[in-house]
Amino acid sequence: MWHDDSIEDLPVGKLYDGRMLKRLLPLVAPFRARILAAGLVLLASSGLALLPPLLLRRAIDVDIAGRDFHGLLFTAAAFVLLQAGTAGVGFLLQVALESLGVRMVSALKQRLFGHMLGLDAAYFDRFATGKLIARVESDTEAIRRLFTSTMFTLLGSLVSLIGMVAVMASVSWRLFQAVAAILPVIVLLTVLYQRKVRPLFAVVRRKYAGIVGFLTEMVQGVRVVQAFSREPAVDRRLRELNASMLKTQLPSEILSMGFFSLMGVFEIIGLAVILFAGGGMVAAGALTIGSLVLFLGYLRQFFGPVYAFSEQVNVMQRAFAAADRVFQILDLRPQVVDKPGAAAWPAFAEAIEFRNVFFSYGERAGQQERDWVLKDICFRVGKGQKVALVGATGGGKTSVINLLLRFYDAQQGAITVDGRDIRDIAIADLRRKFGLVLQDVFLFPGTVRENLTLGTEIAEDRLLKAAEILGLKRILRKLPQGLESELAERGANLSQGERQLMSFARALAFDPQILILDEATSSVDPRSERLIQAGIRRLLKGRTAIIIAHRLSTILDADRILVVHKGRIAESGTHEELMEKNGYYAKLYRIQFT
Ligand SMILES: Nc1ncnc2c1ncn2[C@@H]1O[C@H](COP(=O)(O)OP(=O)(O)OP(=O)(O)O)[C@@H](O)[C@H]1O
Ligand SMILES: [Mg+2]
Repeated sequence: MWHDDSIEDLPVGKLYDGRMLKRLLPLVAPFRARILAAGLVLLASSGLALLPPLLLRRAIDVDIAGRDFHGLLFTAAAFVLLQAGTAGVGFLLQVALESLGVRMVSALKQRLFGHMLGLDAAYFDRFATGKLIARVESDTEAIRRLFTSTMFTLLGSLVSLIGMVAVMASVSWRLFQAVAAILPVIVLLTVLYQRKVRPLFAVVRRKYAGIVGFLTEMVQGVRVVQAFSREPAVDRRLRELNASMLKTQLPSEILSMGFFSLMGVFEIIGLAVILFAGGGMVAAGALTIGSLVLFLGYLRQFFGPVYAFSEQVNVMQRAFAAADRVFQILDLRPQVVDKPGAAAWPAFAEAIEFRNVFFSYGERAGQQERDWVLKDICFRVGKGQKVALVGATGGGKTSVINLLLRFYDAQQGAITVDGRDIRDIAIADLRRKFGLVLQDVFLFPGTVRENLTLGTEIAEDRLLKAAEILGLKRILRKLPQGLESELAERGANLSQGERQLMSFARALAFDPQILILDEATSSVDPRSERLIQAGIRRLLKGRTAIIIAHRLSTILDADRILVVHKGRIAESGTHEELMEKNGYYAKLYRIQFT
């Protein structure tokens, strides 16, 4: 339950990954017109940023020096106009990037989530929910940043830097050489910061994510924590996690502040160098005062792009790492898929049959006898029959159902319906024939109606009839708005038995040909028990059914009872036959009823 410190396995991506970029481009291709438009606005915005120092130079060298107050007024007005224009273009750029980003992220999420929905049950066994959600959320966000802010900031910074260098070099080559002498120091400092301080922040982020994960789990399981009086242990663990984060966070903050102070000092040193070298040139008549002011102005603007550049390097690394994970998911191909030319299955007519089925959840299927979860399973369910599976916990009953609905495929043997292998039938066609009441009831946050229909169109009278048959009416009367009442997450505002009735009603509303019932082990109060028993009986009337039961009273009148023990069918027969046999079933029965 406890996390260790290496909770978030965030690999650091490469600075630039051409192969990855090539794969990413098709994902953002639909947005190329928007990206291009934003790029043009960006060029305009970067170009405009070069102008203010040039205007200042003109004001000093031309207007003021020539005592041309008319011209000065004109220049001042141009200054104001320029600022307004810059602000306008900046706004436009923000809007363009924002609208691009929002669209990009939702398209990516849709694609990723749609892909996940099609993946096998086996895939979801392997990955924790929190991690999957994090991938959809934060990885798409990182990719968005790469194609909006990062790409544009890099381009914008590049344009500004080149523009400033070009203007300075053309105004005074000699003074530019003096400026060029300080530039390597700025670049060096920035690189140092990137290498030494930045990774510390990554560690802080990782530790922070660990704390959030820990808190989430503890809040979700707060009742368990309280019931077992684990508060002191949880508290201690949180203190440890916090202390571990602080140990990295403080030094990185201090180093970071030190870096910015140092950059400030170098900025002033740069200004001093320009003032001294340029001032000398002005005195000697080799430079105008306006040009000196231009240099001073640009030097102040220089630090921004250099810093932004180095900042974005990180974002790029993270984006490539995120893209890598996104592609890992997109590259997963579900194993259970429709065969090309899979046949339709219009209606269930005859029988379901398991023939010598062997199955294992793991990769090492069948390497050793004990790896099989199901061994040599054979049975038949004719139309209209009710077959029950009973047996000790972990025996393999739910696994039988998982195979029948093709949540997994068996490694050996065959399952047929109406004489046809289920692997040759369209999966949707197959699953539609079954109404499934799962062992652990899952209710979504939403109204009762939404939980019964799952978003499909189901006639009102059929819905009400299903509710009526199962005695759900009593529950609905208790809820303020009947079918439109909101259920809490996982149906927390219903009792266990009521939740089960709800899932029966869901199965019944879909009116399936074959019903599969995986009974929950948890016991409910006698009144709910009676309700559920009556519900099950009504549910089964006139249908083919496979019933997994722990309460044997449910299955006394089943046509056949299969005892599943350690992955094998140990006994089979009617209740009377099995009692006669006096084996495992008879023992189970006696335990429950005497
Ligand atoms: N998704 C899974 N991945 C790996 N192993 C699994 C998975 N689901 C079940 N198993 C294993 O397969 C075996 C059979 O499990 P199954 O759920 O079929 O038992 P069951 O008969 O339905 O038990 P219960 O009566 O408790 O519901 C168990 O040993 C279990 O640990
Ligand atoms: Mg089970």
